Amino acid sequence: MAARSVLVFTVFMLASAAGAQNAPKSVWDGVYSLEQADRGKATYDRFCSVCHGSGLTGSPGGPPLLGSDFAYTFGDQPVAELVQFIKLRMPVENPDSLSPQQATNIAAHILRGNGFPAGPKDLSTDFDAQADIVIKIKQ
Ligand code: HEC
Repeated sequence: MAARSVLVFTVFMLASAAGAQNAPKSVWDGVYSLEQADRGKATYDRFCSVCHGSGLTGSPGGPPLLGSDFAYTFGDQPVAELVQFIKLRMPVENPDSLSPQQATNIAAHILRGNGFPAGPKDLSTDFDAQADIVIKIKQ
């Protein structure tokens, strides 16, 4: 939990610094593409679904990545926080093994699963761009 708080705080500070330059966007602005979410699902099915369930609904091995669980952890956080969590902390038994592109694609899959709309372009792997997008749970 302590390590998590440090990560959240660090990402928040970086996000604030990045956000000072551009007006923040939110996950309601179509920040990933459907093709990207499909690519993310393929990687998710391979490395994550064993613990988080094939429908993101969780299992005895890991929490759901949907709904109130997702909102509690990632609500009002930048998308960068979600991607960094996936990249640095998951999969539990082999953290920091995914590429930035894979972690970003999986984040797109999770955003789609939580009902945020797709758009014309992929979510960029660029940290500053991700830090400018807020996970607003309600539109
Ligand atoms: C071996 C089981 C396991 C695997 C495989 C695994 N996770 Fe997890 N995951 C967990 C557990 C347990 C937690 C809760 C503890 C924690 O937050 O560190 C968690 C937490 C999370 C969270 C935060 C959820 C929240 O609401 O706090 C996310 C997001 C996540 N995992 C994504 C992934 C992704 C993406 C992958 C695949 C790359 C993955 N996990 C693979 C077990 C797993």
